[in-house]
Amino acid sequence: MMNAAAAGTVKLGDLAVNRLGFGAMRVCGPQVWGPPKDRAAAHALFRRAVELGVNFFDTADSYGPHVDEELIAEALYPYPAGLVIGTKGGLLRPRPSAWEPCGTPEHLRRAIEGSLRRLRLDCIDLYQLHAPDPRVPFEDSVGALADAQRAGKIRHVGLSNVTVRELEAARRICPIVSVQNEYNLGNRASEEVLSACERLGIAFLPWYPLGAGTVLRRPNVKRVAARLGASPAQVALAWLLARSPTMLPIPGTASLAHLEENVAAAALRLSDEDLADLG
Ligand SMILES: NC(=O)c1ccc[n+]([C@@H]2O[C@H](COP(=O)([O-])OP(=O)(O)OC[C@H]3O[C@@H](n4cnc5c(N)ncnc54)[C@H](OP(=O)(O)O)[C@@H]3O)[C@@H](O)[C@H]2O)c1
Repeated sequence: MMNAAAAGTVKLGDLAVNRLGFGAMRVCGPQVWGPPKDRAAAHALFRRAVELGVNFFDTADSYGPHVDEELIAEALYPYPAGLVIGTKGGLLRPRPSAWEPCGTPEHLRRAIEGSLRRLRLDCIDLYQLHAPDPRVPFEDSVGALADAQRAGKIRHVGLSNVTVRELEAARRICPIVSVQNEYNLGNRASEEVLSACERLGIAFLPWYPLGAGTVLRRPNVKRVAARLGASPAQVALAWLLARSPTMLPIPGTASLAHLEENVAAAALRLSDEDLADLG
């Protein structure tokens, strides 16, 4: 069966989603800037993901900027029942190569209004602070999201690019349902954050689940893939799914064939020998 449901589900607060999601960032133009070359193909990709049982999409106002959220709404609105869109705010894109933190409450308030409008929603299921802003007290940024939650504009608050200490600080302000940090076979620097998420029963969304492609070139990944008759990307995703029940990988692609390949990883089970080989 090629369906994201084969990976089981994970909770984002009161919302259960299939444990293989879709990272929509790659659908924008080069350098995550501007529209894709073929808008209709981008729409078709999102719709195919839904057909394949993907019911969690990760995006951000900074992807495009704005383009990614608009594309999701164009392709999928009115949204099918059970589809959960997680977006993010707190990064500015003054030019294609720049991702600049901006975590002031004023900016985040405006950012949330913009995402609501582009996604055509009255309430965003998951709104993630994209990254702490070193120039703004972290509590002020999280406080702005807590205010929006109280106002009914956000259902659940998530964090991204945080330490365990920041996760704990945020939890003193409002419930946190997820953390999104870089994590993959080649970069396990967020191991402690993952453990904290497991302990707290919140979802962990590994970004760069394929290491932006680098993981696929690792000899042990290729070896296990050859043994299983699977692709390296499928092995990398199956490893993440096996690593923790709280893991919600969000692989990104602009290719229909890669989307289908990635979703099929939801059903791939690794043996103890495979896991040992992957380290
Ligand atoms: N919170 C943050 O700070 C942050 C940062 C980065 C990303 N993210 C989120 O995390 C998501 C995932 O990250 P990502 O998209 O940057 O990296 P990724 O999923 O690790 O890798 C995506 C790259 O791998 C390629 N790829 C995908 N599937 C493949 C397959 N089956 N075989 C071979 N190559 C494949 C894609 O190219 P093709 O298009 O050719 O398939 C793309 O270049 C993003 O979409 C975004 O939503 C968040």
